[in-house]
Amino acid sequence: MGDLSAAPLLVRALRGEPVERTPVWFMRQAGRSLPEYKEVRKQGSLLEICHRPELAAEVTLQPVRRHGVDAAILFSDIVTPLDAIGFGVEVKAGVGPVVADPIRSHADLARLRDFEPDEDMPALRKTIELIVAELGPQGIPLIGFAGAPFTLASYLVEGGPSKQQSLTKAMMLADPELFEALLRRLSAIAVASLRTQVDAGAQVVQVFDSWIGTLSRDQYRRFVLPVMTDLFTELKDLGVPRTIFGVGTGHLLDLLAETGADCVGIDWRIDLRDARALVPDRCTLQGNLDPSVMLAPQSVIETEVRRVLDSAPDQGHVFNLGHGVLPETPPEVPGEIVRLVREHTAKKSLA
Ligand code: CP3
Repeated sequence: MGDLSAAPLLVRALRGEPVERTPVWFMRQAGRSLPEYKEVRKQGSLLEICHRPELAAEVTLQPVRRHGVDAAILFSDIVTPLDAIGFGVEVKAGVGPVVADPIRSHADLARLRDFEPDEDMPALRKTIELIVAELGPQGIPLIGFAGAPFTLASYLVEGGPSKQQSLTKAMMLADPELFEALLRRLSAIAVASLRTQVDAGAQVVQVFDSWIGTLSRDQYRRFVLPVMTDLFTELKDLGVPRTIFGVGTGHLLDLLAETGADCVGIDWRIDLRDARALVPDRCTLQGNLDPSVMLAPQSVIETEVRRVLDSAPDQGHVFNLGHGVLPETPPEVPGEIVRLVREHTAKKSLA
C-alpha cells in the first residue's frame, strides 16, 4: 500500500508522471473469463446485474482480488445507458448487443432520449459508491467507461454486431446530417454517464470506440472527429485522465489524440514505438499485449510481456492488452502477467 495522500499509480502514469513501476490492468478483466463471475451471473442477465449495486460491485471487485491489478473497471456494458432509457436493447451471451428495432431515419432519433443517470439508473451511482468504499482505502482507482458514439451507432443502425459496419457507413455517407445527429445524441448520453461516474468516485474514464478502425482517416476526420473533440472537451473539467480506445486504429492514432484525450489505447497490431511516434507526447499510451498470448504457455507469455515492455516508452505507459480478455483465458493467467509486469518494471527507481 502506497502513500494514500498521493494520486493512485495508474492516475500518475496516465498523467505522464514518472512512476515507481508500470501500472497494469486488463480490458474486460471482469466477467466472462472468471468462474466467480459465472457464479454471480446465475442470479440474472448481464443487464439485470448492472441494476443491482451489490452484484455489480462484487463482479467489479473480483478481478482486483484475483489478479491484483492496479485498477478496477466498472462492471457494465457500453449499451447499459441505452437499456436504462428504454431504447430496447438486449445483450446476448456469446453474441453481444442486439437491437430489435434499429435506427434508420430522423424519426427514430426521438427514441434516443437524454440519459439522466440518477433517475434512469440509480444503481450506477450506488454501485460506484460501494466499489470506492472498498478500493479507496487500498489506493486502487475505479475506471469509469462509456461506449463512443460511432461504436454505439453501429449496434443501433445494424441491429446487432457486424464485421464491417456497412449499414452504418452507408448512413454516414448518404445522410451525414442524420448520422451526425445520431452521434451527437449518443455523445450526450456518454457524457452524462461519465460525469455521474466521476461524481460518484471514478478516478479515470475510458471511452470505448472499439469498431472505429473500419473508417478511413478522411472519414474519421469528416464524420467523427468533431463529435469526439466536443465529447472530450465536455469531460475536461472533471480533472480525471481520459482514455480513448479502438481496435485496428494504427492508421488513426494521431487523429484519436486530436480528440483531446489524455491517453490513447493501442491494439496489438502496431509496435508501441511506432505508436509513440504517431501520438503527440502530451498523450500517454496504454496497451498492447495480444489477448491470444494469454492462451499460450508460460514461456511464451513471458517473452511476449517482455516484448511489450521493451517497446514501451519509459514514461507514460500503462500495461494492458490490445483488446479485451478472451472468455477462454485461464483465470490464473492475468495474475501471472501482473506479477511479470511488476518484476520487470519495478527497477524504475525514482531516485
Ligand atoms: O469485462 C469487463 O471489463 C466488464 C465490463 C464490460 C462489459 N462490456 C460486460 C460484458 C465492459 C468494459 C464492456 C465493454 C463493451 N461491451 C465493449 C467495448 C470493449 C470491447 O471489448 O471492445 C463492447 C464493444 C461491448 C458490446 C458487447 N457486450 C460485446 C461485443 C459483448 C460480447 C459478447 C460475448 O459474450 O462475447 C458483450 C457482452 C458482455 N458485456 C458480456 C460481459 C460480461 C458477456 C455476456 C454476459 O455475461 O451476459
